[in-house]
Amino acid sequence: MKEAKDTFSRLFCQSLNRAQKVSMKISCQNGGNLIHFLLKNYISRAIMRPLQKFFIRTYGCQMNELDTEIMVGQLEKRGLTRTAEETDADLLIFNTCSIRDLAERKVMGKLGQLGRVKAKRSIIGVTGCMAMAKKDSLFRKLPHVDFVLGTNNITDLNKVLDEVLVSGKQTFKTDDVFEENLDYLIAKRDDPVKAYVSIIRGCDKYCTYCVVPYTRGQEVSRPPEGIEEECRLLVQKGYKEVTLLGQNVNSYGKDKPEWNCLFHDLLYRLDKIEGLERIRFMTSHPVDITVDLMQAIRDLPSLCEFVHFPIQAGSNRILKKMHRIYTKEQYLEKVALLREIVPNVSLGTDIIVGFPTETEEEFEETYEVFKQIKYSVAFIFSYSARKGTPAFRWKDDIPEEVKQERLHRLLSLHAEIGNEERQGMLGSEVEVLVEKQLDNCKLKGRTRCWKNVVFEGTEHLVGTLQKVKVLGYGNQTIVAELIPSIPKLSLI
Ligand code: 5AD
Ligand code: SF4
Repeated sequence: MKEAKDTFSRLFCQSLNRAQKVSMKISCQNGGNLIHFLLKNYISRAIMRPLQKFFIRTYGCQMNELDTEIMVGQLEKRGLTRTAEETDADLLIFNTCSIRDLAERKVMGKLGQLGRVKAKRSIIGVTGCMAMAKKDSLFRKLPHVDFVLGTNNITDLNKVLDEVLVSGKQTFKTDDVFEENLDYLIAKRDDPVKAYVSIIRGCDKYCTYCVVPYTRGQEVSRPPEGIEEECRLLVQKGYKEVTLLGQNVNSYGKDKPEWNCLFHDLLYRLDKIEGLERIRFMTSHPVDITVDLMQAIRDLPSLCEFVHFPIQAGSNRILKKMHRIYTKEQYLEKVALLREIVPNVSLGTDIIVGFPTETEEEFEETYEVFKQIKYSVAFIFSYSARKGTPAFRWKDDIPEEVKQERLHRLLSLHAEIGNEERQGMLGSEVEVLVEKQLDNCKLKGRTRCWKNVVFEGTEHLVGTLQKVKVLGYGNQTIVAELIPSIPKLSLI
């Protein structure tokens, strides 16, 4: 018996990696024995409780949504099933965001609460931007978290999970650089009509308020062939629309001059894909928007006439302090040129109010630019100081109530402009990609310019392009009626 036990121990020890051996040694020194170590760290996890169901929650931007879809694909391939019930899952993943303090506080609150109620021993993983920002320091605050996986390590999810299961120890992998080895095709998408496609990861712009260059690393473009292949496969599966994603899609290809494929070149290639009805892209840095891109929007049938073109602020002093590398005048010139080349283009923006030292007059400049440009889409944020960014060193000196007041002034202006725009569309005919049926049985879709449209129709129209006539509008929505398509008659 003793001999058999020794042989087993030797063989088992040979199969352990260094970290596991150290862990085992500590466990045995602390009064445990090999069998105890085995039960606690190996058998109990890997054999007695195989993972079956996972729960995943996404915080933040579209980039995170896509990373979640990729992780869901990886876990399902491993044989796990997704559940919408946290309490039902033996693996919980939180794909986090740290762009603003509120986003981070939400996640920390949720994770803290899980630590207090964790009755069943489920595995808890933190992925995304907060994982990158906090790395293994997260374990100190949240000792019940089992693994931390950075934005550049999505590929390693199953490997890290295995490590946690085998060693029973907290594990983290947060590489600073993204290696282009991610299997994008594995993504399990929720939406059957439109899909996100990643074309470039990271950001090299270093705006002084923003954590992204630190949490997502430097720009790495994805080979065009892989993007084309993914888009083709999506079309084969019935997708009609793709949104090309990147922190700054306009930088696409600049890091790989040997590919000879800049952003507009990529768009020309993708437009050739038969059946791909609509291409969108997000986000653009104004500095990198070129005339070539503007002409592509004008000339390519599939490319939608909507550009998310974040100005962030309308005062040159603030823009300089933000390191946005353009002036208000240069920005306005680009908008004028874009509108000359693509007269029916719609514009979207991101704006930050209450940046350190922003005066009332400087905020009014932002307000005036907004009024002048008449953005169709706007995401307006109040400044949030982020650790690790240059702006964090400056005093966050605009009182919260001033920030909120500026934010609300801009939101009202945005609502006013939106209503005017919708009013101007009354009676017009627009093309809608039908996305889904709503609870009230109406259909919901979007125009090429990203406007929400609701109209009567049957479910079989989901996933098709339809012509509708605008009858009215509500808050953020256009109400329309379907223009029945005339079936093509045979001339014979
Ligand atoms: N505070 C407030 N808003 C921010 N954004 C980025 N960093 C911050 C911050 N520290 C906004 C910018 C960006 C959008 C994604 O989030 O407007 O374009
Ligand atoms: Fe952040 Fe600026 Fe990069 Fe956008 S361009 S992700 S705001 S650093």
